[in-house]
Amino acid sequence: MTKLSTKHLLGIKELNADDINLILSTAESFKEVINRPIKKVPSLRDITIANLFFENSTRTKLSFELAEKRLSADVVNFSAAASSVKKGETLIDTVNNILAMKVDMVVMRHPNPGAAVFLSKHIDAKIVNAGDGAHEHPTQALLDAFSIKEKLGSIKGKKIAIIGDILHSRVALSNIFCLQKLGAQVMVCGPTTLMPKYIHSLGVKVEHDLRKALEWCDVANMLRIQLERQDIKYFPSLREYTMLFGLNKDLLDSLSKKIVVMHPGPINRGVEITSDVADSAQSIILDQVENGVAVRMAVLFLLAGRV
Ligand code: CP
Repeated sequence: MTKLSTKHLLGIKELNADDINLILSTAESFKEVINRPIKKVPSLRDITIANLFFENSTRTKLSFELAEKRLSADVVNFSAAASSVKKGETLIDTVNNILAMKVDMVVMRHPNPGAAVFLSKHIDAKIVNAGDGAHEHPTQALLDAFSIKEKLGSIKGKKIAIIGDILHSRVALSNIFCLQKLGAQVMVCGPTTLMPKYIHSLGVKVEHDLRKALEWCDVANMLRIQLERQDIKYFPSLREYTMLFGLNKDLLDSLSKKIVVMHPGPINRGVEITSDVADSAQSIILDQVENGVAVRMAVLFLLAGRV
């Protein structure tokens, strides 16, 4: 298989296992490319990509831009905070104006779930969802899967615990879809108040005791509490959350086996994870960031159809 079954990357839900494996194997080749002295290939020469960020980002925005430049695409960047969105311009008007400038692909982050799907129904350009509200963050799940495979050799049969604010997390949902399609067992762990009501319908194990989750898993993916998406109080205090769901070195070292620790970032050091765990030999957090560039190169290359 050399082509994706989809025109856009709107979410992992729309991909099949062959699509995901194709992206991961293509990313392996690009990882080799970006570790060469000359890191650039001409694969997307003459393709123009607009990065539209309606919500804050560090990793995803930089990673996409670097991926596009490594593929020799022409890149334009748009940040809502410094745009005519602030004067009341709608999403569709903003995008149509950008497309009138002959853009081939759009990478978009937006605070509203479904924004990428909405866009794909209104414009001809290929769309990559870089995170839509609490819905999906497909390239994060793909880079997480790549990083697990790189560290453990395979994903099938591995036990992955996703720990923290599941309710507000697009990373959790995309990871659940991706890991299950690749044959992993997935557990979610966190306070009852931070579990979506539909969680059991996703076929995951649900655990509220952090130690039990850590003893079960091969990989713990620690998530940030998304205070910016919380309009009510879901737990009494951050201090109490950390006591019950924070991963510290004593807890990590007390486990019966050495697990792999992941975090999509940004990290709230001292809340969901302590610095000595985030920076420990068991953490692959910076590998995730490095792999993000190769995985995004693979996604853009495959969507552009230049195979
Ligand atoms: N992991 C992630 O999406 O980080 P940013 O919000 O910084 O892009």
